[in-house]
Amino acid sequence: MWRGDPEGGRLEDFTVEVNEGEVVLDIIHRLQATQAGDLAVRWNCKAGKCGSCSAEINGRPRLLCMTRMSTFERADVVTVTPLRAFPVVRDLVTDVSYNYTKAREIPSFVPPAELAPGEYRMQQEDVERSQEFRKCIECFLCQDTCHVVRDHEENKQSFAGPRFLMRQAELDMHPLDAAEEQGLDRKTSAQEEHGLGYCNITKCCTEVCPEGIRITDNALIPMKERVADRKYDPLVWLGNKIRRRS
Ligand code: SF4
Ligand code: SF4
Ligand code: FES
Repeated sequence: MWRGDPEGGRLEDFTVEVNEGEVVLDIIHRLQATQAGDLAVRWNCKAGKCGSCSAEINGRPRLLCMTRMSTFERADVVTVTPLRAFPVVRDLVTDVSYNYTKAREIPSFVPPAELAPGEYRMQQEDVERSQEFRKCIECFLCQDTCHVVRDHEENKQSFAGPRFLMRQAELDMHPLDAAEEQGLDRKTSAQEEHGLGYCNITKCCTEVCPEGIRITDNALIPMKERVADRKYDPLVWLGNKIRRRS
């Protein structure tokens, strides 16, 4: 177990009883109750739905409440450390405010002016696409694992991370979003302000997502294609050139 604060820390060894059916969060609670009363850990639901118990278990970003102890052998050492991509507050608690900053930078859905609420109609496949992305519990495990920021604090300024590039893709592919009519260009924003080009589709974000969202295949790659399509569409190219001249 990693114990420490922003000044530094160390791994401490504990031997804890494990009962059938328990998850790593149960073991941490037992540790708090019996051996380390001041151990800091963030959690809320213990059901894989609030996204607050994110940490790294044996170096892999995971939810503490969804990792069963039965996945380890009896003699295994289970190493629990805080999310590496974010600054430590204390022990397993990290400061994830980078994510909230990025969330605020993305303009929300722009309703179509010509339709009243209740008149919106969408194809089932468009509904299902949004629904997949909306399963996100904002655990930020994908953000933590992405190599663009994991060891590169300097990239955080210009890279929103998979969760928020996915949000931009969701809105850009939404058939009723009227952002462009309002002069909001989500493609340019994703590419130039939020670092879509940094993503080299390694799919590590998809692998750690506890909701099984296919972030890379269903959001990041389609968004890259949409950006590229527009860039190489001769009519758009001509339009941009004329606009820039005038
Ligand atoms: S696919 Fe892109 S966003 Fe996801 S982890 Fe890899 S580089 Fe990061
Ligand atoms: S996309 Fe998945 S891994 Fe990323 S924040 Fe949402 S639920 Fe967590
Ligand atoms: S405590 Fe809510 S997701 Fe783990």
